Amino acid sequence: MSLYALGDLHLHFQTELKAIGQKSGAWRHHEQKFQKNCAKMIDANDTLVLVGDHSWGKNLNECEQDLAYIADLPGRKILTRGNHDMFWNAKKTRQLNEKFQPKLNFLQDGFEVYQDYALVGTKGFTFEGPYYLDRRGRIIGWDEEKEEHAKKLVERELARLRASLEMAKNEGYQKFIIFLHYPPTNILEESSGFTGIAEEFRAEQVIYAHCHGESRFHDSIQGEFHGVEYRLVSGDFLRWKPYKVLD
Ligand SMILES: [Fe+2]
Ligand SMILES: [Fe+2]
Repeated sequence: MSLYALGDLHLHFQTELKAIGQKSGAWRHHEQKFQKNCAKMIDANDTLVLVGDHSWGKNLNECEQDLAYIADLPGRKILTRGNHDMFWNAKKTRQLNEKFQPKLNFLQDGFEVYQDYALVGTKGFTFEGPYYLDRRGRIIGWDEEKEEHAKKLVERELARLRASLEMAKNEGYQKFIIFLHYPPTNILEESSGFTGIAEEFRAEQVIYAHCHGESRFHDSIQGEFHGVEYRLVSGDFLRWKPYKVLD
């Protein structure tokens, strides 16, 4: 029995692929590579958490085949929200779960249980610029209006994360794994509200995705920071091999 994670499948069985960078390299036939790796590594007793950006579809109809592909993967599937998941209105998560139970579990504003761990998940948010660079590529400024907007979204996501952890704690859980879609910090920060909550609740691991391509893989923390383990699990970073979170 193991717990695995991977993010950013960006499936597009029914929709035209918009991201140019996702037509070649690590992305070539990525859905086949992931399917093969899952078949090799994951069995019916395992749990697989997919950390957002599941589909390019703009609504449930356009995601039908993408979600069917996920449902056919081995093990229990838990999905969390990414910035591209237009089919998933956070406030209507209950309806999604009713429609897809028991094949898919959509995690938002609550928690799932794995052994004696509570798994909590929310999209998170980080300020992503634009940053202004000097001729040597050093950051000399950024869009402050966008930064202000980002702060509001961060506050909302922090509140969701805290509420989910409190819910699990009130039911007696003491061990937590946090799943975010966005990295826990932006590229300017060493700490953030998200790392603060992870430390406060003594989460063992924070798993995140969203960072694509060699140049973005080191946008945030990887490894141990203030007693919490941080792991990037975007699919192209992992080359479509699910990361084992827990045995
Ligand atoms: Fe993504
Ligand atoms: Fe994303």
